[in-house]
Amino acid sequence: MVATNGRRTEAAPPDVGRSTVASNGRTHDRPFAAMRERLAPHRYAHLTGWGMKVPDRVVTNADLEAIVETNDEWIRSRTGIQERRFATERESAVTLGFEAARAALDRANVLPRDIDLIIVATSTPEDIYPSTASKLQNMLGAVKAGAFDLSAACSGFVYAMNMAAQAIKSGSIQVALVVGTEVNSRVLDWNDRATCVLFGDGAGAVVLESREEHGGFLECVLGSDGSGAELLGIPTVGANTLPEGRQLHKLHMDGREVFRFAVGIIPDSIRSVLTRAKLNLSDVDLIIPHQANQRILSAAARNLNVAEALFYSNVHRYGNTSAASIPIALCEAEKEGRMKPGDHVVIVGFGGGLTWAAAVIEWQKQPKIEPRGLGYRLSQGRRQADYVAAFWRAQALRLYRRLAAALGGSPARHANLRSNKKNAKAKTPIPDKDKR
Ligand code: ACO
Repeated sequence: MVATNGRRTEAAPPDVGRSTVASNGRTHDRPFAAMRERLAPHRYAHLTGWGMKVPDRVVTNADLEAIVETNDEWIRSRTGIQERRFATERESAVTLGFEAARAALDRANVLPRDIDLIIVATSTPEDIYPSTASKLQNMLGAVKAGAFDLSAACSGFVYAMNMAAQAIKSGSIQVALVVGTEVNSRVLDWNDRATCVLFGDGAGAVVLESREEHGGFLECVLGSDGSGAELLGIPTVGANTLPEGRQLHKLHMDGREVFRFAVGIIPDSIRSVLTRAKLNLSDVDLIIPHQANQRILSAAARNLNVAEALFYSNVHRYGNTSAASIPIALCEAEKEGRMKPGDHVVIVGFGGGLTWAAAVIEWQKQPKIEPRGLGYRLSQGRRQADYVAAFWRAQALRLYRRLAAALGGSPARHANLRSNKKNAKAKTPIPDKDKR
């Protein structure tokens, strides 16, 4: 795997269990491949750290009454939402994601330099590229990590966890950081009162590590139905048409249709992931759904024929934080003691695309962190040193690039010279534009 800084991280194990294709097109198992596969340790992706960050600025339903024609009673009765958090001007998906990632690394007691892969699920990045993940890689000082963003709206965090868990299970990486982070307040259309009251900002993160003991992220189902693309979205600069009533960079939603989709897909995807995991509904100890709307969660619980209390909910505190809602809910459920070792926890996301995703996690006994212990304090100190070093390393690299450009001419100029020389040497000259 190649890291964003160009370094190469640990390679995948050599062709375990793969087969070769002979010249006659038949496949032959390589000698001992099957045996090696049997002897290779089975890897599981365990959740060893989790953390969250929400902005300090609380916006209540009463506060919204000053901006839109709405009222607390309507919002509470239709959605269950009482308040949400909005980012300040200085905050963004990157800054919130960074704080959540730091908290998750602290809990896992993992150093940034040991992360192999960073995946960020977000629909509200600072830039389309560079990715939020690359910015986090730089800020954390995760010097050997590959990093990319993943776009699957409110299902994004479960998609991202699945990608990271599969990379761990395949043996190609050991440690992954998965982040869901959103600043929905920047994309709200304040003229659409049925939608703007639903959303909030925040971030959550988890650390996944390779272990040989059974447990962690066990099974996952992913789904998509692009025929429902127009029901929910944020058009951006690449849009070739902009239907009437839509605005660039503003969230639009057909609330009723999304509601219908959600109450059907939550039970369906939970049932299918349980089938994959060879579990029954009665084996599930907690469901952590995407926090869209309390009425959706109540209807989904009714459809599944389970007690509503099985569905964890904190939607009243934060509203819908899109890709961040599941990791935020996971952090709060853990804090409230809702997950015990051996518990089966189902996480389920649904949203724009349309997309959906559900996964089964077997919660593990977590090592007790003694914040006052010498070992923890030492690694905490090393993490802080890594963050400071990451800042200065980035400054030094930027300065170096500027100096190199000033002394050696622009890289673009060099590239032109090189390609001109190559073209001059080529046997077939590139035809003139007019002759093509
Ligand atoms: N305050 C007061 N009145 C309002 C508001 C508001 N904020 N918004 C709409 N109304 C009014 C409407 O104007 C309408 O009035 P009318 O009957 O006089 O025309 C009335 O309330 C009903 O409007 P509806 O749009 O029909 O309201 P509905 O009962 O469908 O509820 C809601 C709207 C809450 C958005 C609902 O459709 C819903 O929950 N949908 C799912 C949305 C969701 O959770 N999406 C996220 C999932 S995916 C993701 O996370 C990105």
